[in-house]
Formats: sequence, C-alpha cells, structure tokens
Amino acid sequence: MSHPLHISATSKEEKYLFLLPQLKGLLEGETDTIANMANISAALKITFGFFWVGFYIVKREELVLGPFQGTIACTRIKYGKGVCGTAWKEKRTVIVEDVNQFPGHIACDAASQSEIVIPMFSHDEVIAVLDIDSDHLNHFDETDARYLQQIVKLLERE
Ligand code: SME
Repeated sequence: MSHPLHISATSKEEKYLFLLPQLKGLLEGETDTIANMANISAALKITFGFFWVGFYIVKREELVLGPFQGTIACTRIKYGKGVCGTAWKEKRTVIVEDVNQFPGHIACDAASQSEIVIPMFSHDEVIAVLDIDSDHLNHFDETDARYLQQIVKLLERE
C-alpha cells in the first residue's frame, strides 16, 4: 500500500504538525526499525528539503551509518566524537548553529553549515541518533528539536 505525503503547510511548525500524524500512519503496523528509519528520512527530506537527513546506529563503540537521504556520508563515528558522538555521549539533543565553530565537528560534506542531532533511546540507553544537516547557518532551533524528538519517539515504541 502506498502512503503519499500531503504537506501543504507553510510555516515550519505547521509542516511538523502536518507531518507527525502522517508519519504515525506510515509507521503503523511496521515493526522493522531500518524500514521506518528509511521512510522517516525520506519524509523529512521531502517536507523540508534538508541538505542531509539520516540515522546513525550504535554498534559496539561506534555509530554506524544507517538509512539516510543526501550526499555520501562518513560511515563510522566514535563515541563522543563530532556532533553525533556528542549527542550519544551526553544523551541529549545537540543544536549547532555553525558547524565550523563546533570543536571536533566531522565534516562529511563541506557544504554543511548547521546541524541538529537527536538521540533515540531504548531503556535509557542511546541506540541510534537522527542527524540533520543544513547548508545554511543557524537553520535549527527549539521548534525543530521538539518535533524531531517526537518523530524519533515513534521509533522508540518498537
Ligand atoms: N557532522 C556529523 C557527522 C555526520 S554527517 O553530518 C552526515 C558529526 O559531526 O557528527
């Protein structure tokens, strides 16, 4: 069955409010986390046109590249390294207004200018992160954090 997205909203918050119930429907009945990560990446890319959006999955001491939409990316990130590794270590959403000012930022693509990383949890442990890059400075704020956390929670129910 196909699930076309209908996004007619204009403001960022409206787009998230339109997207959330549609994502709930899209993920309903599908328990495979990789499949759901793939569709979430595609839905966010279509809705917001983000430069890069995807998941890194915790495997032993590293994050390993998972489903994503965008340019070719780094495949492995160590615990505590870069923005993704920091979100994993500190168990919190990290917003970076200017990646060039973030110590240890891992530049998979020089076009990336700002970034947000949201951890995904299972029993209080981080099991993956959602990473979104923009090619504009200062693209992400608390509105993105709030709704993206809700989107990641759709995966945590599994
Ligand atoms: N910039 C990230 C690495 C992943 S790419 O942006 C896709 C980081 O510093 O962790």
